[in-house]
Amino acid sequence: METTQRRVPVRVPAFRPFLTRAESGAVQEAVESGWLGTGIYTRLFEERLTRSLGAPHAHAVSSGTAALHLALQSLGAGGGEVLTTAVTNVATNHAILYNRAKPVFCEVDPETGLIDPAEIERRRTRRTQAVVVVHLGQACDMDAVRRAAGRVPVVEDACACLPGAGASRGRRLGTLGDAACFSFGRFKGLTTIEGGAVVHARPALAERLLRLRRMGLAEKDGELVRSPEGLSELGWHYRLGDLPAALGLAQLERLPALRERLATIERRYRAGLRSLAWLERIPAAPGSEGVLGSLRVRLRGGGRDALRRHLAARGIGLNDPLYPSHRYRLYRPFGRGLPASDRFCAETLELPFYPGLADREVDLVLETLADFRRRHHGT
Ligand SMILES: Cc1ncc(COP(=O)(O)O)c(C=O)c1O
Repeated sequence: METTQRRVPVRVPAFRPFLTRAESGAVQEAVESGWLGTGIYTRLFEERLTRSLGAPHAHAVSSGTAALHLALQSLGAGGGEVLTTAVTNVATNHAILYNRAKPVFCEVDPETGLIDPAEIERRRTRRTQAVVVVHLGQACDMDAVRRAAGRVPVVEDACACLPGAGASRGRRLGTLGDAACFSFGRFKGLTTIEGGAVVHARPALAERLLRLRRMGLAEKDGELVRSPEGLSELGWHYRLGDLPAALGLAQLERLPALRERLATIERRYRAGLRSLAWLERIPAAPGSEGVLGSLRVRLRGGGRDALRRHLAARGIGLNDPLYPSHRYRLYRPFGRGLPASDRFCAETLELPFYPGLADREVDLVLETLADFRRRHHGT
């Protein structure tokens, strides 16, 4: 039986893939095609993604981190300053360092944990080359972000979101900035095991992104350009092969069902959490719509870690809590006081939330949460 480190039987895993015969069939077909490189399945996956998001261009890459790296490079962020937040997966900030740019941490809204647009305006200077905003559990207020960013390009880090699942004021995530990045990692609602995509609406970016994910090598009429002009900018080995793309393609076909399942799970949690008033839901950001792919709750006053231990000891699997990036030694030179970011990371936890989660497992999580309160406060 699956166990946690302390050999507690797992009753609700932190994540479970939600794959069907459609995915097995698609992978088998790709295996039998005899081609594992970036080919027809990758192209179909990209086409299907553009249709799902309503965005003109999607380029599949090897991870969400690679997507962020290339999005920033292709938008010309190298060497300058990039505004972002410390309340994220550290990959968001690494992508800035990969571009030899300086991360400038903006404070987050104390309630939602999302970038505070007023901070973007405050910290924007002549050196600012890009802004990376993170849709963490819900959409950032993209109208306010764009207003605050002025002419500076905005990258949406949508790596924590199921594609097509969320919107800001009626417009889909992934279409609201100059480029958007998705992750299809192992623990995502839509997975290619490792993978990601850059999505955008600028034809001029497409050629450069394709070149950068292919080591920087230029292509003409389907052939690599074998002349000095064939390589003028350092690129990366970031392509996504046909096999993972076939897996992703089969899931894209099921995207409405995946979204619906997440929405059902969210409703069940929401109904159950109503009777656990001591545990706060993260309030909705202005204009945020849809259920994106993660569900956080907040326990103020220092009990969060005790609650995590209580859940883990009863077999409820949890993702690692957020840790504010500016606290890591690597990011200390860029860090400064960010009390709202610190507090949000210290007081929140992510509940199991993925399309493969069964209703009875949601109920078990809710019961275990209620049990924590009874033990500690007798209510
Ligand atoms: C907000 C955020 N950004 C970036 C990433 C990096 O994506 P990947 O793990 O596919 O490189 C993740 C991954 O979980 C994420 O949640």
